[in-house]
Amino acid sequence: MSKYDSLWVEKYRPKTLKDLILNDENRTFFSSLNDEIPHIMLWGNAGTGKTTLAKLIVNDILKCQYLYINASDENGVDTIRNKVISFSQVKSFDGKKKIIILDESDGLTNEGQRILRNVMEEYAENARFILTANYFNRIIEPIRSRCILFNLKPDLEESYLRCIHILQQENVTLDDNQREDLKKFVEKRHPDLRRIINDLQKFSLDKNFEASNKNNILSISTKIVKALLNKESSLSVRKIVIENESAFDSNYQLLYKEIFDLIYNSKFEEKRKKNLLLELGEYMYRDTFVLDHEINFFCCLMAIENSLN
Ligand SMILES: Nc1ncnc2c1ncn2[C@@H]1O[C@H](COP(=O)(O)OP(=O)(O)O)[C@@H](O)[C@H]1O
Ligand SMILES: [Mg+2]
Repeated sequence: MSKYDSLWVEKYRPKTLKDLILNDENRTFFSSLNDEIPHIMLWGNAGTGKTTLAKLIVNDILKCQYLYINASDENGVDTIRNKVISFSQVKSFDGKKKIIILDESDGLTNEGQRILRNVMEEYAENARFILTANYFNRIIEPIRSRCILFNLKPDLEESYLRCIHILQQENVTLDDNQREDLKKFVEKRHPDLRRIINDLQKFSLDKNFEASNKNNILSISTKIVKALLNKESSLSVRKIVIENESAFDSNYQLLYKEIFDLIYNSKFEEKRKKNLLLELGEYMYRDTFVLDHEINFFCCLMAIENSLN
């Protein structure tokens, strides 16, 4: 038993394709994969099953020789290149295609991706690639166009049912109110199943599910919106954010979403509301590209402050 066994995300990581929440079309495609496999790119939000599916393809479906590389861990393209080359130079012992899983490939620089593209080309005879990425627009076009792209997004209702199933397995019982709370909570975190299951475990201490009063993120975002409306300076609002980063695990996308919902449901006059939401949407978008998410959020606060004045 490893130390990870007590983590529900690991305990309930799908062991076969059947366990994975997947739409019908994708399920049909992946379950019928064989040695004719094309290069594949799995992309989408964190916690939607990209790594799990990549590993199921090699272990459960193709049962083939494979090399796993996490592109954001490995230091330097050279290491990757050498590993990939020495792995794919030699034909597999069973004559089947070998697979190279390049997890989190959007962590590679453009230069790294260009080298990768050549390697993909050169060793296609013996090997196929399964790439994963959170943001497919960070992958250069020549690589994208060599892959079949799949966007993974587990169905909302099925995600909720998965939570119910896990809670049942863990002997956590739910009354009607708790079911409602669970539903809202899954909607909020969707489609990040890793986060959902992690929080589910946190909220289920003592075999009792309690989500509502532990949703600190909501109280932080409410605090931020209130402070802005009270015309507090963005400088002091920034302080609230930094001091409370742990309440939202530095997940700025989540914070944007909460604030978006608060403004969306507010009583602002329509034009003003739309302007604020547009502003917020712009920074939410930038958040997926910037290096420093906190600074980007601070800029967002200043922009909102400006449009409120
Ligand atoms: N589609 C899915 N069906 C069932 N469980 C999932 C799915 N996606 C994610 N999970 C859960 O979340 C955890 C993390 O999934 P992972 O494959 O690492 O996500 P990603 O690589 O997309 O970030 C898994 O261990 C599993 O418990
Ligand atoms: Mg992953």
